[in-house]
Amino acid sequence: MAAHEGMNQQTKKKETNKKKTHWCFSPILLKSCDQHVLSLIAFSVYLFITLKLFVYINIMTMSQQVLLRDAMRRLNMTRDVFAERIGVRRRTLDSWLLPDESKEYRSTPEVVRRFVQEISSKTDAGLVYTHGVYPSDEGAGYQGKQLKHLLSVDQLTRGDVEELFMLSDVMQPIARRQKVTRVLEGAVLANLFFEASTRTRISFGAAFCRLGGSVCDTTGFTFSSMAKGESIYDTSRVVSGYVDAIVVRHPDKGAVSEFAHATNIPVVNGGDGPGEHPSQALLDLYTIQREFSGLGKLIDGAHIALMGDLKYGRTVHSLIKLLSLYRGLKFTLISPAELEMPTEIIDSVCRNGHVVELSNTPINALKDADILYTTRIQKERFTEESIDSYGADFEVNQKLVGAECKSDVVIMHPLPRDSRAGSHDLSVDLNVDPRLAIFRQTDNGIPIRMAIFAKLLGVDQLVRRSMKDVTWVTPSYIGPDDNFPEASIS
Ligand code: NCD
Repeated sequence: MAAHEGMNQQTKKKETNKKKTHWCFSPILLKSCDQHVLSLIAFSVYLFITLKLFVYINIMTMSQQVLLRDAMRRLNMTRDVFAERIGVRRRTLDSWLLPDESKEYRSTPEVVRRFVQEISSKTDAGLVYTHGVYPSDEGAGYQGKQLKHLLSVDQLTRGDVEELFMLSDVMQPIARRQKVTRVLEGAVLANLFFEASTRTRISFGAAFCRLGGSVCDTTGFTFSSMAKGESIYDTSRVVSGYVDAIVVRHPDKGAVSEFAHATNIPVVNGGDGPGEHPSQALLDLYTIQREFSGLGKLIDGAHIALMGDLKYGRTVHSLIKLLSLYRGLKFTLISPAELEMPTEIIDSVCRNGHVVELSNTPINALKDADILYTTRIQKERFTEESIDSYGADFEVNQKLVGAECKSDVVIMHPLPRDSRAGSHDLSVDLNVDPRLAIFRQTDNGIPIRMAIFAKLLGVDQLVRRSMKDVTWVTPSYIGPDDNFPEASIS
């Protein structure tokens, strides 16, 4: 009995436990749990569809040229290799890369767009063919950090550069005057130029205006309060109260960084004495990449010849540093002995695994160069140097290019070129030579500077969907000598 009673008690206890357990799964709770699970499933499905839709809309609204160029950059493939990878002929790919208004332009089938998006999002696929641009786990771009100022190319990684280039591709239709945007409507730029400038000042101003902003300019010291002894700190802080971004060009190395230290609004270095010129280097590199794209070449492994005043030329200082973010380059640095590239820059380029050769003459030094980038002698920065050593053999003209360069060399110059007799700068006799890329280079200043502003002011994601057609008439070629084969300007 006692045992029975004990068992009964145990059974009762179990039953109570059972009841308790049962209570946990009561119909009311089960119902609310079900609802919970159901709403979770519904939410996941909703998220999945939204994400898919977002990716789809993204592919469909991204211009085909931007999509294809970005894919080639991510996969680090030449046009030939990329055409093979996606299973089309090189000519077909070329026609997809042309500007929309070109007669040869063809639109990319949707199935190809989807395939391109798929292979470029898996950057590992690129590693099979060559070296991918982005480390596989980092993804493209600034790796989450916001670029506050643009003072030196040292701030940029290869991923940052490639992201800016993709953004510049997005800006191309606006720079080419087919589209307009107002993403910077209401914003004001101060262009503070304390040194001579035409293209840098105007192109920064035009880039800001083409994003919908407006520009205030000041040129030279004479008409600024600096002539009354005002410090950089005060000028910078005062101007920052008036505008949303500042571009500064100053004759002293480091002066633009000083401007940046006195403000929380974005400051862009438009050239600080013999120091740096980051936006010029970005547009130069962008030009090299686009020229190479047409020629079926990659920046990795290229041979770049830099010539002229390599001591004081700030454009070459920034450009060589930016190029050293790529792999396996050969640099030939050609200048008189007293105008050689500063050793600390050469050392850092060598530390990045590139080959550097110095020459005091262009003769026999240009033989297999892919790029011949020549510069003006910066007499205004000379201390004890003289120009006597910069003889006629340095002049880049038809004779030199014909005798010393490869047939597909790309000739570049940051401009201005000194056209006065005896300057031995880049000759005008190459003006109709399609290998002369100087005006394609200056044209690229607009999309690059637009991309810089869009990034600094955080509107980079808004541009693509904000574009509208222009309302005015624009010429098909900007310059009278611009009618090169269209593939070379695509
Ligand atoms: C250069 C400069 O100012 O550094 N020009 C430019 O910005 N495009 C080159 C020069 O002055 O020689």
